[in-house]
Amino acid sequence: PIEQKEYLVNGEMRQWKGKTQDVWSPIYVKTDKGFEQKRIGSYPITDAADAMEVLYAGVKAYSNGRGEWPSMTVAQRIECVEKFTQKMIQKRDEVVKLLMWEIGKSLGDSQKEFDRTVQYIYDTIGALKDIDRTSSTFLIEEGIIGQVRRSPLGVVLCMGPFNYPLNETFTTLIPALIMGNIVLFKPPKHGTLLHYPLLEAFKDSFPAGVINTLYGRGNSIIPQLMESGKIDVLTLIGSSKVADKLKKMHPKVNRLRAILGLDAKNAAIVTESADLDSAINECLLGSLSFNGQRCTAVKIIFVHKSLADKFNEGLAKKIEALKLGMMWEPGVQITPLPEPNKPAYLTELIEDAKLHGAKVMNEHGGENFKSIFFPALLYPVNSKMKVWHEEQFGPVVPVVPFENLDEPIDYIHESSHGQQVAIFGTDVNQISELIDATVNQVSRVNINAQCQRGPDSFPFTGRKDSAEGTLSVTAALRSFSIRTVVATKAT
Ligand code: G3H
Repeated sequence: PIEQKEYLVNGEMRQWKGKTQDVWSPIYVKTDKGFEQKRIGSYPITDAADAMEVLYAGVKAYSNGRGEWPSMTVAQRIECVEKFTQKMIQKRDEVVKLLMWEIGKSLGDSQKEFDRTVQYIYDTIGALKDIDRTSSTFLIEEGIIGQVRRSPLGVVLCMGPFNYPLNETFTTLIPALIMGNIVLFKPPKHGTLLHYPLLEAFKDSFPAGVINTLYGRGNSIIPQLMESGKIDVLTLIGSSKVADKLKKMHPKVNRLRAILGLDAKNAAIVTESADLDSAINECLLGSLSFNGQRCTAVKIIFVHKSLADKFNEGLAKKIEALKLGMMWEPGVQITPLPEPNKPAYLTELIEDAKLHGAKVMNEHGGENFKSIFFPALLYPVNSKMKVWHEEQFGPVVPVVPFENLDEPIDYIHESSHGQQVAIFGTDVNQISELIDATVNQVSRVNINAQCQRGPDSFPFTGRKDSAEGTLSVTAALRSFSIRTVVATKAT
Protein backbone atom coordinates (compact mmCIF):
# COMPACT_ATOMS: atom_id res chain seq x y z
CA PRO A 1 0.00 0.00 0.00
CA ILE A 2 1.02 3.60 -0.57
CA GLU A 3 0.70 5.66 2.58
CA GLN A 4 0.84 9.29 1.52
CA LYS A 5 2.05 11.34 4.47
CA GLU A 6 2.79 14.64 2.79
CA TYR A 7 1.32 17.24 0.50
CA LEU A 8 2.70 20.17 -1.44
CA VAL A 9 2.29 23.69 -0.16
CA ASN A 10 4.38 26.78 -0.82
CA GLY A 11 7.11 24.77 -2.52
CA GLU A 12 7.65 22.34 0.34
CA MET A 13 6.47 18.82 1.01
CA ARG A 14 4.53 19.33 4.22
CA GLN A 15 4.69 16.31 6.53
CA TRP A 16 1.30 15.17 7.73
CA LYS A 17 0.72 13.61 11.14
CA GLY A 18 -3.05 13.98 11.36
CA LYS A 19 -5.95 11.80 10.25
CA THR A 20 -5.74 9.89 7.01
CA GLN A 21 -8.24 8.52 4.52
CA ASP A 22 -7.96 4.86 3.54
CA VAL A 23 -8.04 4.19 -0.19
CA TRP A 24 -9.82 1.04 -1.34
CA SER A 25 -9.43 -0.44 -4.76
CA PRO A 26 -12.68 -1.40 -6.50
CA ILE A 27 -11.28 -4.93 -6.56
CA TYR A 28 -12.49 -7.54 -4.07
CA VAL A 29 -10.21 -10.37 -3.04
CA LYS A 30 -11.10 -13.69 -1.48
CA THR A 31 -9.93 -14.01 2.11
CA ASP A 32 -10.79 -16.35 5.01
CA LYS A 33 -13.62 -13.98 5.83
CA GLY A 34 -15.07 -14.07 2.32
CA PHE A 35 -14.67 -11.39 -0.34
CA GLU A 36 -13.04 -8.21 0.92
CA GLN A 37 -12.18 -4.97 -0.81
CA LYS A 38 -8.48 -4.39 -1.28
CA ARG A 39 -6.89 -1.53 0.66
CA ILE A 40 -4.24 0.20 -1.43
CA GLY A 41 -3.13 3.09 0.74
CA SER A 42 -4.10 6.31 2.44
CA TYR A 43 -3.79 10.08 2.11
CA PRO A 44 -4.04 13.07 4.48
CA ILE A 45 -7.38 14.48 5.56
CA THR A 46 -6.44 18.11 6.02
CA ASP A 47 -8.87 20.53 7.62
CA ALA A 48 -10.13 24.03 6.89
CA ALA A 49 -7.15 25.70 8.62
CA ASP A 50 -4.69 23.70 6.46
CA ALA A 51 -6.70 24.60 3.37
CA MET A 52 -6.55 28.30 4.25
CA GLU A 53 -2.78 28.02 4.55
CA VAL A 54 -2.71 26.51 1.07
CA LEU A 55 -4.88 29.37 -0.17
CA TYR A 56 -2.60 32.03 1.32
CA ALA A 57 0.46 30.34 -0.18
CA GLY A 58 -1.24 30.73 -3.57
CA VAL A 59 -2.34 34.32 -2.92
CA LYS A 60 1.24 35.20 -1.93
CA ALA A 61 2.72 33.49 -4.98
CA TYR A 62 0.38 35.51 -7.19
CA SER A 63 0.87 38.81 -5.27
CA ASN A 64 -1.73 40.59 -7.37
CA GLY A 65 0.08 39.63 -10.55
CA ARG A 66 3.49 40.80 -9.32
CA GLY A 67 4.65 37.39 -8.09
CA GLU A 68 7.58 35.62 -9.70
CA TRP A 69 5.39 33.24 -11.75
CA PRO A 70 2.87 35.67 -13.28
CA SER A 71 5.76 38.03 -14.04
CA MET A 72 7.78 35.45 -15.98
CA THR A 73 7.96 35.46 -19.74
CA VAL A 74 6.02 32.84 -21.67
CA ALA A 75 9.30 31.17 -22.62
CA GLN A 76 10.32 30.85 -18.98
CA ARG A 77 6.98 29.35 -18.01
CA ILE A 78 7.14 26.91 -20.91
CA GLU A 79 10.57 25.82 -19.70
CA CYS A 80 9.14 24.94 -16.26
CA VAL A 81 6.23 23.00 -17.78
CA GLU A 82 8.65 21.11 -20.05
CA LYS A 83 10.80 20.25 -17.06
CA PHE A 84 7.73 18.98 -15.23
CA THR A 85 6.62 16.89 -18.21
CA GLN A 86 9.99 15.18 -18.50
CA LYS A 87 9.83 14.26 -14.83
CA MET A 88 6.21 13.16 -15.22
CA ILE A 89 7.12 10.79 -18.04
CA GLN A 90 9.59 9.06 -15.72
CA LYS A 91 6.66 8.29 -13.41
CA ARG A 92 4.52 6.69 -16.15
CA ASP A 93 4.54 3.15 -14.75
CA GLU A 94 3.68 4.23 -11.22
CA VAL A 95 0.84 6.50 -12.31
CA VAL A 96 -0.59 3.95 -14.75
CA LYS A 97 -0.59 1.28 -12.05
CA LEU A 98 -2.40 3.56 -9.64
CA LEU A 99 -4.94 4.54 -12.31
CA MET A 100 -5.73 0.84 -12.68
CA TRP A 101 -5.93 0.05 -9.00
CA GLU A 102 -7.66 3.20 -7.87
CA ILE A 103 -10.40 3.65 -10.45
CA GLY A 104 -10.57 0.24 -12.13
CA LYS A 105 -9.41 1.43 -15.56
CA SER A 106 -7.93 -1.28 -17.80
CA LEU A 107 -4.17 -1.30 -18.38
CA GLY A 108 -4.58 -0.21 -22.02
CA ASP A 109 -6.95 2.64 -21.18
CA SER A 110 -4.78 3.76 -18.26
CA GLN A 111 -1.74 3.91 -20.55
CA LYS A 112 -3.80 5.80 -23.11
CA GLU A 113 -4.93 8.28 -20.48
CA PHE A 114 -1.33 8.91 -19.41
CA ASP A 115 0.01 9.27 -22.96
CA ARG A 116 -2.90 11.45 -24.05
CA THR A 117 -2.16 13.76 -21.12
CA VAL A 118 1.51 14.07 -22.04
CA GLN A 119 0.55 14.78 -25.65
CA TYR A 120 -1.95 17.37 -24.45
CA ILE A 121 0.79 19.17 -22.52
CA TYR A 122 3.11 19.24 -25.54
CA ASP A 123 0.26 20.45 -27.77
CA THR A 124 -0.50 23.16 -25.21
CA ILE A 125 3.11 24.32 -25.30
CA GLY A 126 2.98 24.42 -29.11
CA ALA A 127 -0.30 26.36 -29.11
CA LEU A 128 1.01 28.86 -26.58
CA LYS A 129 4.10 29.48 -28.69
CA ASP A 130 1.76 30.28 -31.61
CA ILE A 131 -0.39 32.62 -29.52
CA ASP A 132 2.71 34.33 -28.21
CA ARG A 133 4.06 34.84 -31.72
CA THR A 134 0.76 36.34 -32.91
CA SER A 135 0.45 38.64 -29.94
CA SER A 136 3.72 40.27 -30.82
CA THR A 137 2.05 41.45 -34.02
CA PHE A 138 1.16 45.09 -33.58
CA LEU A 139 -2.22 46.52 -34.52
CA ILE A 140 -2.23 50.06 -35.82
CA GLU A 141 -5.59 51.82 -35.98
CA GLU A 142 -6.67 55.43 -35.64
CA GLY A 143 -3.15 56.51 -34.74
CA ILE A 144 -2.86 54.00 -31.90
CA ILE A 145 -0.47 51.07 -31.81
CA GLY A 146 -1.87 48.16 -29.84
CA GLN A 147 -0.23 44.99 -28.66
CA VAL A 148 -2.61 42.34 -27.32
CA ARG A 149 -1.23 40.22 -24.55
CA ARG A 150 -2.75 37.36 -22.64
CA SER A 151 -2.50 37.90 -18.90
CA PRO A 152 -3.29 35.51 -16.06
CA LEU A 153 -6.47 35.72 -13.98
CA GLY A 154 -5.13 34.93 -10.50
CA VAL A 155 -5.71 32.00 -8.17
CA VAL A 156 -7.38 28.96 -9.71
CA LEU A 157 -9.13 26.29 -7.66
CA CYS A 158 -8.85 23.14 -9.76
CA MET A 159 -10.87 19.98 -9.20
CA GLY A 160 -10.99 17.00 -11.55
CA PRO A 161 -13.26 13.96 -11.92
CA PHE A 162 -12.72 10.30 -10.98
CA ASN A 163 -13.21 8.92 -14.51
CA TYR A 164 -10.24 10.76 -16.04
CA PRO A 165 -8.48 11.81 -12.85
CA LEU A 166 -5.23 12.58 -14.67
CA ASN A 167 -6.27 13.66 -18.15
CA GLU A 168 -9.31 15.80 -17.41
CA THR A 169 -7.60 17.41 -14.44
CA PHE A 170 -4.52 18.28 -16.44
CA THR A 171 -6.54 19.73 -19.33
CA THR A 172 -7.42 22.54 -16.91
CA LEU A 173 -4.44 22.53 -14.54
CA ILE A 174 -1.73 22.79 -17.20
CA PRO A 175 -3.31 25.64 -19.25
CA ALA A 176 -4.07 27.47 -15.99
CA LEU A 177 -0.45 27.19 -14.88
CA ILE A 178 1.20 27.95 -18.17
CA MET A 179 -0.81 31.17 -18.55
CA GLY A 180 0.72 32.46 -15.30
CA ASN A 181 -2.03 31.59 -12.84
CA ILE A 182 -1.53 30.00 -9.44
CA VAL A 183 -3.19 26.63 -8.92
CA LEU A 184 -4.74 25.10 -5.81
CA PHE A 185 -5.37 21.53 -6.80
CA LYS A 186 -7.69 19.06 -5.10
CA PRO A 187 -7.49 15.56 -6.59
CA PRO A 188 -10.79 13.66 -6.99
CA LYS A 189 -12.00 11.40 -4.17
CA HIS A 190 -11.44 8.29 -6.29
CA GLY A 191 -8.17 8.99 -8.07
CA THR A 192 -6.18 10.81 -5.39
CA LEU A 193 -3.19 8.57 -4.82
CA LEU A 194 -2.21 8.47 -8.48
CA HIS A 195 -1.17 12.12 -8.24
CA TYR A 196 1.20 11.43 -5.37
CA PRO A 197 4.15 10.31 -7.56
CA LEU A 198 3.91 13.67 -9.37
CA LEU A 199 4.18 15.97 -6.34
CA GLU A 200 7.99 16.00 -6.30
CA ALA A 201 7.98 16.80 -10.01
CA PHE A 202 5.71 19.78 -9.36
CA LYS A 203 7.91 20.91 -6.48
CA ASP A 204 11.13 20.67 -8.47
CA SER A 205 9.77 22.29 -11.65
CA PHE A 206 7.88 25.38 -10.45
CA PRO A 207 8.65 28.29 -8.12
CA ALA A 208 7.31 27.99 -4.56
CA GLY A 209 3.55 28.40 -4.17
CA VAL A 210 2.72 28.16 -7.89
CA ILE A 211 1.04 24.80 -7.43
CA ASN A 212 -0.34 23.75 -4.07
CA THR A 213 -2.37 20.68 -3.19
CA LEU A 214 -5.48 20.17 -1.09
CA TYR A 215 -6.33 16.81 0.44
CA GLY A 216 -9.32 15.63 2.39
CA ARG A 217 -13.07 15.90 2.40
CA GLY A 218 -14.27 18.47 -0.09
CA ASN A 219 -17.13 19.74 2.01
CA SER A 220 -14.91 20.55 4.96
CA ILE A 221 -12.24 22.44 3.04
CA ILE A 222 -13.69 23.89 -0.17
CA PRO A 223 -16.48 26.13 1.28
CA GLN A 224 -13.96 28.21 3.27
CA LEU A 225 -11.86 28.74 0.17
CA MET A 226 -14.84 29.92 -1.85
CA GLU A 227 -16.18 32.11 0.96
CA SER A 228 -12.79 33.84 1.28
CA GLY A 229 -13.44 35.59 -2.03
CA LYS A 230 -9.80 34.96 -2.97
CA ILE A 231 -10.49 32.35 -5.62
CA ASP A 232 -10.47 34.03 -9.03
CA VAL A 233 -11.25 30.98 -11.14
CA LEU A 234 -13.22 27.87 -10.25
CA THR A 235 -12.55 24.94 -12.50
CA LEU A 236 -14.44 21.75 -11.88
CA ILE A 237 -15.20 18.69 -13.92
CA GLY A 238 -18.08 17.19 -12.02
CA SER A 239 -21.73 17.74 -11.24
CA SER A 240 -23.72 20.90 -11.97
CA LYS A 241 -25.26 20.68 -8.50
CA VAL A 242 -21.84 20.94 -6.83
CA ALA A 243 -20.71 23.68 -9.23
CA ASP A 244 -23.82 25.79 -8.50
CA LYS A 245 -23.41 25.34 -4.77
CA LEU A 246 -19.73 26.34 -4.84
CA LYS A 247 -20.29 29.37 -7.03
CA LYS A 248 -22.95 30.70 -4.67
CA MET A 249 -20.46 30.62 -1.80
CA HIS A 250 -18.22 33.17 -3.47
CA PRO A 251 -18.93 36.71 -2.16
CA LYS A 252 -18.35 38.25 -5.60
CA VAL A 253 -19.83 35.54 -7.76
CA ASN A 254 -20.12 37.85 -10.77
CA ARG A 255 -16.36 38.31 -10.80
CA LEU A 256 -15.61 34.64 -10.45
CA ARG A 257 -14.66 32.95 -13.70
CA ALA A 258 -15.98 29.41 -13.85
CA ILE A 259 -14.63 26.83 -16.28
CA LEU A 260 -16.79 23.80 -15.84
CA GLY A 261 -17.38 20.40 -17.45
CA LEU A 262 -20.63 19.09 -15.99
CA ASP A 263 -23.48 16.59 -16.42
CA ALA A 264 -24.55 15.24 -19.78
CA LYS A 265 -27.20 12.94 -21.19
CA ASN A 266 -26.02 12.58 -24.76
CA ALA A 267 -28.56 11.04 -27.13
CA ALA A 268 -27.86 8.91 -30.19
CA ILE A 269 -30.43 8.93 -33.01
CA VAL A 270 -30.39 5.90 -35.30
CA THR A 271 -32.50 6.84 -38.31
CA GLU A 272 -34.16 4.53 -40.85
CA SER A 273 -31.34 4.93 -43.35
CA ALA A 274 -28.54 4.07 -40.88
CA ASP A 275 -25.89 1.48 -41.64
CA LEU A 276 -26.96 -0.85 -38.87
CA ASP A 277 -23.65 -2.60 -38.14
CA SER A 278 -21.72 0.59 -37.91
CA ALA A 279 -24.42 2.27 -35.76
CA ILE A 280 -24.39 -0.73 -33.40
CA ASN A 281 -20.60 -0.64 -33.09
CA GLU A 282 -20.48 3.10 -32.43
CA CYS A 283 -23.34 2.93 -29.91
CA LEU A 284 -21.60 0.08 -28.11
CA LEU A 285 -18.36 2.04 -27.85
CA GLY A 286 -20.20 5.26 -27.05
CA SER A 287 -22.29 3.73 -24.27
CA LEU A 288 -19.90 1.30 -22.67
CA SER A 289 -16.26 2.39 -23.04
CA PHE A 290 -14.87 2.52 -19.51
CA ASN A 291 -18.18 1.04 -18.29
CA GLY A 292 -20.11 4.07 -19.54
CA GLN A 293 -18.31 6.31 -17.02
CA ARG A 294 -17.57 9.16 -19.42
CA CYS A 295 -19.29 12.52 -19.45
CA THR A 296 -19.29 12.17 -23.23
CA ALA A 297 -20.88 8.69 -23.23
CA VAL A 298 -24.03 8.02 -25.22
CA LYS A 299 -26.60 7.81 -22.43
CA ILE A 300 -29.82 7.21 -24.36
CA ILE A 301 -30.35 5.74 -27.84
CA PHE A 302 -33.35 6.55 -30.05
CA VAL A 303 -33.84 3.96 -32.79
CA HIS A 304 -36.33 4.12 -35.63
CA LYS A 305 -39.07 1.54 -35.02
CA SER A 306 -38.38 -0.23 -38.32
CA LEU A 307 -34.82 -1.05 -37.17
CA ALA A 308 -35.40 -1.53 -33.48
CA ASP A 309 -35.57 -5.35 -33.40
CA LYS A 310 -32.45 -5.83 -35.45
CA PHE A 311 -30.63 -3.06 -33.59
CA ASN A 312 -31.45 -4.56 -30.17
CA GLU A 313 -30.55 -8.04 -31.30
CA GLY A 314 -27.19 -6.89 -32.68
CA LEU A 315 -26.35 -4.66 -29.72
CA ALA A 316 -27.40 -7.28 -27.14
CA LYS A 317 -25.15 -9.83 -28.85
CA LYS A 318 -22.17 -7.46 -28.81
CA ILE A 319 -22.78 -6.59 -25.16
CA GLU A 320 -22.88 -10.26 -24.21
CA ALA A 321 -19.55 -10.73 -25.98
CA LEU A 322 -17.81 -7.99 -23.96
CA LYS A 323 -14.95 -9.30 -21.90
CA LEU A 324 -15.45 -8.80 -18.21
CA GLY A 325 -12.50 -9.00 -15.87
CA MET A 326 -9.71 -7.36 -13.98
CA MET A 327 -7.86 -4.30 -15.22
CA TRP A 328 -4.65 -6.11 -16.10
CA GLU A 329 -6.29 -8.85 -18.20
CA PRO A 330 -5.56 -8.48 -21.91
CA GLY A 331 -8.53 -7.20 -23.90
CA VAL A 332 -10.74 -6.64 -20.84
CA GLN A 333 -13.68 -4.28 -21.52
CA ILE A 334 -15.86 -4.36 -18.39
CA THR A 335 -14.00 -3.66 -15.16
CA PRO A 336 -14.89 -3.01 -11.49
CA LEU A 337 -16.75 0.24 -10.71
CA PRO A 338 -14.94 2.57 -8.29
CA GLU A 339 -18.03 4.27 -6.81
CA PRO A 340 -19.30 1.95 -4.04
CA ASN A 341 -22.95 2.97 -4.40
CA LYS A 342 -23.08 2.70 -8.18
CA PRO A 343 -24.18 -0.97 -8.55
CA ALA A 344 -27.16 -0.36 -6.23
CA TYR A 345 -28.11 2.78 -8.17
CA LEU A 346 -27.90 1.02 -11.53
CA THR A 347 -30.01 -1.85 -10.22
CA GLU A 348 -32.59 0.68 -9.05
CA LEU A 349 -32.68 2.24 -12.53
CA ILE A 350 -33.21 -1.18 -14.11
CA GLU A 351 -35.96 -2.18 -11.66
CA ASP A 352 -37.72 1.14 -12.17
CA ALA A 353 -37.55 0.71 -15.96
CA LYS A 354 -38.91 -2.82 -15.68
CA LEU A 355 -41.77 -1.56 -13.56
CA HIS A 356 -42.68 0.84 -16.34
CA GLY A 357 -42.58 -1.74 -19.11
CA ALA A 358 -38.96 -2.14 -20.22
CA LYS A 359 -37.15 -5.45 -20.57
CA VAL A 360 -33.48 -6.29 -20.17
CA MET A 361 -32.60 -7.42 -23.69
CA ASN A 362 -29.30 -9.21 -23.04
CA GLU A 363 -29.04 -12.43 -21.08
CA HIS A 364 -26.70 -11.29 -18.30
CA GLY A 365 -27.73 -7.63 -18.24
CA GLY A 366 -27.73 -6.14 -14.74
CA GLU A 367 -26.07 -9.13 -13.07
CA ASN A 368 -23.69 -7.94 -10.48
CA PHE A 369 -21.20 -9.17 -7.94
CA LYS A 370 -19.80 -6.51 -5.61
CA SER A 371 -18.21 -3.84 -7.85
CA ILE A 372 -18.58 -5.78 -11.11
CA PHE A 373 -21.73 -4.90 -13.03
CA PHE A 374 -22.64 -6.51 -16.30
CA PRO A 375 -24.09 -3.98 -18.80
CA ALA A 376 -27.84 -4.03 -19.34
CA LEU A 377 -29.63 -3.06 -22.54
CA LEU A 378 -33.09 -1.72 -21.65
CA TYR A 379 -35.97 -1.60 -24.16
CA PRO A 380 -38.45 0.01 -24.75
CA VAL A 381 -37.58 3.00 -22.59
CA ASN A 382 -40.08 5.84 -22.05
CA SER A 383 -40.41 9.13 -20.20
CA LYS A 384 -41.96 7.56 -17.09
CA MET A 385 -38.65 5.90 -16.28
CA LYS A 386 -35.85 7.39 -14.21
CA VAL A 387 -33.29 6.29 -16.78
CA TRP A 388 -34.97 8.59 -19.33
CA HIS A 389 -34.08 11.61 -17.19
CA GLU A 390 -31.07 10.72 -15.04
CA GLU A 391 -27.45 10.50 -16.08
CA GLN A 392 -26.63 6.88 -15.25
CA PHE A 393 -22.83 7.30 -15.65
CA GLY A 394 -22.48 3.54 -15.77
CA PRO A 395 -23.18 0.41 -17.84
CA VAL A 396 -26.91 0.74 -18.48
CA VAL A 397 -27.99 1.34 -22.09
CA PRO A 398 -31.54 2.68 -22.56
CA VAL A 399 -33.04 2.28 -26.03
CA VAL A 400 -36.16 4.18 -27.16
CA PRO A 401 -38.12 3.33 -30.32
CA PHE A 402 -39.37 6.29 -32.38
CA GLU A 403 -41.52 6.80 -35.46
CA ASN A 404 -41.19 10.47 -36.05
CA LEU A 405 -37.94 12.47 -35.87
CA ASP A 406 -39.72 15.01 -33.65
CA GLU A 407 -39.54 12.50 -30.81
CA PRO A 408 -35.73 12.50 -30.34
CA ILE A 409 -35.59 16.18 -31.30
CA ASP A 410 -38.09 17.05 -28.56
CA TYR A 411 -36.08 14.98 -26.08
CA ILE A 412 -32.95 16.98 -26.86
CA HIS A 413 -34.79 20.31 -26.68
CA GLU A 414 -36.48 19.49 -23.40
CA SER A 415 -33.31 18.17 -21.76
CA SER A 416 -31.51 20.29 -19.17
CA HIS A 417 -28.27 18.93 -20.62
CA GLY A 418 -26.64 20.05 -23.82
CA GLN A 419 -23.31 18.42 -24.49
CA GLN A 420 -23.41 16.23 -27.64
CA VAL A 421 -25.60 14.20 -29.95
CA ALA A 422 -24.74 11.34 -32.32
CA ILE A 423 -26.77 10.95 -35.52
CA PHE A 424 -26.69 7.79 -37.62
CA GLY A 425 -28.01 7.68 -41.17
CA THR A 426 -27.17 7.85 -44.88
CA ASP A 427 -30.05 10.06 -46.03
CA VAL A 428 -28.27 13.37 -46.48
CA ASN A 429 -31.43 15.48 -46.31
CA GLN A 430 -32.56 13.88 -43.12
CA ILE A 431 -29.11 14.24 -41.57
CA SER A 432 -29.05 17.94 -42.48
CA GLU A 433 -32.49 18.34 -40.95
CA LEU A 434 -31.28 16.73 -37.73
CA ILE A 435 -28.12 18.83 -37.63
CA ASP A 436 -30.21 22.00 -37.96
CA ALA A 437 -32.66 20.82 -35.33
CA THR A 438 -30.01 19.97 -32.72
CA VAL A 439 -27.01 22.19 -33.36
CA ASN A 440 -28.35 25.00 -31.19
CA GLN A 441 -29.01 22.63 -28.31
CA VAL A 442 -25.63 20.94 -27.94
CA SER A 443 -22.00 21.81 -28.48
CA ARG A 444 -21.07 18.94 -30.79
CA VAL A 445 -23.07 16.97 -33.35
CA ASN A 446 -21.42 13.68 -34.37
CA ILE A 447 -22.42 12.13 -37.67
CA ASN A 448 -22.20 8.34 -37.94
CA ALA A 449 -19.88 8.34 -34.97
CA GLN A 450 -20.13 8.01 -31.20
CA CYS A 451 -19.91 11.04 -28.92
CA GLN A 452 -16.44 11.86 -27.66
CA ARG A 453 -14.17 14.66 -26.57
CA GLY A 454 -11.26 14.09 -28.92
CA PRO A 455 -9.39 15.19 -30.93
CA ASP A 456 -8.29 17.37 -28.04
CA SER A 457 -7.74 20.30 -30.38
CA PHE A 458 -11.54 20.45 -30.94
CA PRO A 459 -13.47 22.87 -28.72
CA PHE A 460 -14.95 20.99 -25.78
CA THR A 461 -17.89 22.55 -24.01
CA GLY A 462 -21.64 22.19 -23.57
CA ARG A 463 -24.85 24.16 -23.28
CA LYS A 464 -27.45 24.43 -20.52
CA ASP A 465 -26.34 22.48 -17.41
CA SER A 466 -23.50 20.71 -19.24
CA ALA A 467 -20.65 23.21 -19.15
CA GLU A 468 -19.36 26.70 -18.71
CA GLY A 469 -16.37 27.99 -20.66
CA THR A 470 -14.57 26.09 -23.39
CA LEU A 471 -11.69 23.67 -23.21
CA SER A 472 -9.41 22.38 -25.97
CA VAL A 473 -5.73 22.85 -26.41
CA THR A 474 -6.08 26.44 -27.64
CA ALA A 475 -9.46 27.35 -26.12
CA ALA A 476 -8.25 26.46 -22.63
CA LEU A 477 -5.35 28.90 -22.96
CA ARG A 478 -7.91 31.60 -23.71
CA SER A 479 -10.25 30.46 -20.92
CA PHE A 480 -7.50 30.80 -18.31
CA SER A 481 -6.36 34.27 -19.35
CA ILE A 482 -7.59 37.73 -20.18
CA ARG A 483 -6.68 39.86 -23.14
CA THR A 484 -4.78 42.96 -22.16
CA VAL A 485 -3.93 45.64 -24.73
CA VAL A 486 -0.85 47.78 -24.44
CA ALA A 487 -1.95 50.77 -26.51
CA THR A 488 0.54 53.43 -27.48
CA LYS A 489 -0.34 56.70 -29.18
CA ALA A 490 1.70 56.95 -32.37
CA THR A 491 3.55 60.25 -32.51
O1 G3H B 1 -15.70 12.32 -19.24
C1 G3H B 1 -15.46 13.12 -20.16
C2 G3H B 1 -14.21 12.97 -20.95
O2 G3H B 1 -13.63 14.19 -21.30
C3 G3H B 1 -14.47 12.15 -22.13
O3 G3H B 1 -13.41 12.07 -22.95
O4 G3H B 1 -14.72 11.33 -24.90
O5 G3H B 1 -12.26 11.08 -24.83
O6 G3H B 1 -13.70 9.67 -23.40
P1 G3H B 1 -13.51 10.96 -24.10
